[in-house]
Amino acid sequence: MLNDYLEKELNALEEAGLNRKMKITSSTQGSRIIVDGKEVLNFCSNNYLGLADDFRLCKAAIDEIENSGFGSGASRLICGNMSAHRRLEERIARFKGAENCVVFSTGYMANVGIISSLFDREDIIYSDRLNHASIVDGILLSRAKFKRYKHCDMVSLEEMLKEGGAFKKKCIVTDSIFSMDGDIAPLDKICELAKKYECSVMIDEAHAFGVMGPNGEGLAKHFGVEQQIDIQMGTLSKAVGSFGAYCCGSDKLIALLINKARSFIYTTALPPMIAAASIKAIDIIEENRKLRQLLWDNAKYVNEALKGIGLDTMNSQTPIIPVLLKRSKLALEFSERLLASGIYISAIRPPTVEKNMARLRLTVMATHRKEDLDHLIQQIKIIAAKLLGSGQVERDNKACPA
Ligand SMILES: Cc1ncc(COP(=O)(O)O)c(C=O)c1O
Repeated sequence: MLNDYLEKELNALEEAGLNRKMKITSSTQGSRIIVDGKEVLNFCSNNYLGLADDFRLCKAAIDEIENSGFGSGASRLICGNMSAHRRLEERIARFKGAENCVVFSTGYMANVGIISSLFDREDIIYSDRLNHASIVDGILLSRAKFKRYKHCDMVSLEEMLKEGGAFKKKCIVTDSIFSMDGDIAPLDKICELAKKYECSVMIDEAHAFGVMGPNGEGLAKHFGVEQQIDIQMGTLSKAVGSFGAYCCGSDKLIALLINKARSFIYTTALPPMIAAASIKAIDIIEENRKLRQLLWDNAKYVNEALKGIGLDTMNSQTPIIPVLLKRSKLALEFSERLLASGIYISAIRPPTVEKNMARLRLTVMATHRKEDLDHLIQQIKIIAAKLLGSGQVERDNKACPA
């Protein structure tokens, strides 16, 4: 019976152009990688600053292995809390100007653990419609009342806030930079509404940490509202080039999470070498404005060129640049043709994005060279002309389901 089910589901996914298959990367994670045996330009990683294969991070990890060995042996609350973990937490708190910090093993686990331990069925959470799946899962697990406001739409949020209701705690939660759209949450306005309606605010800085703010501290610092945000979560797996995640906030918040967040308590601590590499990455990020500038210059160059070709890059304002194609099969075909011409950009399809919103999710890196960007733009232009023609996207989408 299970086999019948598996076959039917897989066939349905294939039919809809939604079957996901993994390719194998056999090089380090740089702006050029070897995918399924072929060297390609990498335009789909979250390794925005190119730190994932930086020798300084590798050296920090190796030095830590020499001091602390490889594994952490247990969860943080048993005997797995190693000095590297605490050094990392102190480093992040200092960088973010926060009272305290706790590190989780992944961003997914951080969101699920933070939200489900702080909120329950007597609370209400207002969440941007396009927030990351880990935020959604955290809210569902918490059993709090779940209100989804229209994406970045402060009128929609305020209408919901006005409805009020007898809730013990209220919280607005948003991604800082939206992972599939590359646009930015209006954090200043969210903080104003939170103040007016007595809500707390939680942000997910996954794609903003290392990318935004004067020294890469994130979007809260960019808007100067960091003191108004109660819960600042972020990942170490994207611009930091490492692995893991953090939550910054008050001493009380961190103390409660350590006691209650199940995804913190019931899992083995990160290997200490990962923590050491993250510390090194934060040092590099803080000292290196030029790296961030290169990233932003590259993002602007590509976004403007793609818009010039007539492609829809949505409201991207960051190094995440979507190319909206709407139909899943079209996105897949586009991605495959790009790969054949030496460019790796994955097709993003439902359920990661909403129905009829399939796209290429292109990300630029600080380490892309001008000739890489020009090759990308040139190839996209050629493939778009073949697959879309002029006005083809619109017509296609009327005729075909996602
Ligand atoms: C906005 C956002 N939050 C959380 C996560 C999860 O982070 P991690 O990959 O460290 O689990 C991601 C990554 O996919 C993300 O894009």
